Amino acid sequence: MRQRILTPKPLSEAEERINLSLRPISFSEYIGQQATVAKLKIAIQAAKERQEPLEHILFYGPPGLGKTTLAHVIATEMGARLVGTSGPAIERTGDILGIMTNLKQGEILFVDEVHRLPKVVEEFLYPAMEDFQVDLVVDKGPFAKSIKMPLKGFTLVGATTRAGLLSLALRNRFGMFHHIGFYPDEDIVTIVKRSAHILDCRLDEAALWEVAKRSRGTPRIANRLLRRVRDYAQVKGERMVPAPLAKEALELEGVDESGMDGLDRRFLETIINSYHGGPVGIEAIGATLNEEVDTLVDMVEPFLLKEGLLARTRNGRQATAKAYDYLGVKFKEDQPKLFTNDA
Ligand code: ADE
Repeated sequence: MRQRILTPKPLSEAEERINLSLRPISFSEYIGQQATVAKLKIAIQAAKERQEPLEHILFYGPPGLGKTTLAHVIATEMGARLVGTSGPAIERTGDILGIMTNLKQGEILFVDEVHRLPKVVEEFLYPAMEDFQVDLVVDKGPFAKSIKMPLKGFTLVGATTRAGLLSLALRNRFGMFHHIGFYPDEDIVTIVKRSAHILDCRLDEAALWEVAKRSRGTPRIANRLLRRVRDYAQVKGERMVPAPLAKEALELEGVDESGMDGLDRRFLETIINSYHGGPVGIEAIGATLNEEVDTLVDMVEPFLLKEGLLARTRNGRQATAKAYDYLGVKFKEDQPKLFTNDA
């Protein structure tokens, strides 16, 4: 599969390692998401004053926006260790039991993609989250009995791109919910400035904006584009990167001024050309593009929806007039226009 420079998911483990060096450690370094940060600071201070573990927290929102980063910041601010895992990595109850029994009072268990936990594991978590104990079945057949095993008071921080896929029972066991949305370009500029400083590369203000406006409001993409600009400037022998140089570097990567790439354009073109502008089901779009539905829902749609290029209606996906405009296709007046965001 071709790698997409604008994917909000990490491209590789090597990229993850670089990102680690760019990751803010504490709230003082963290940029953006002001409402969430303000509420978390209060909750953390209150929990510390009461010497209690923090309530379980659920972060939801598109990938690449720093849900994992925030979990680490919370751990730092609580002065607690973080143990990280993910929904798909936990196959059996035994996997999570081992992790939970090793947690000390106040420590953080971070579960990425929490919506992908197997059902049995999810159910095993309910009493762990609610009463800090688990129900274990020992022995088999007629001798089987259920015993309760106590755990230390820990905090589960869950992250998901799809809050809707979480069972109601699991959702109800979180004490705090925070939506992590796309960052405004101003915040991305500040993030790129900070990262450029750490990576020892210098961009002027206009060059920072060239990177930011192509980053889809996503820090992970911004940091990736910054690294491409840094390489380009180094090869061209420039110490201080001006806007035209940043632009050249990013055009080479096939990213346009609004942060759209080939997959975004093909997604919209499919709706317009193959399905008369929609409404059309996401499965049909996926089949035409030969792309996984999950990829389209997680990685492509959130940004198109935010930009007002796509509408999700009761009857399926629909290209908006703005999408026609963007692609330079004439918008037909007899096009059905069902612009409600409720599907
Ligand atoms: N790097 C990635 N996300 C960041 C954020 N929100 N603040 C500072 N640096 C970041």
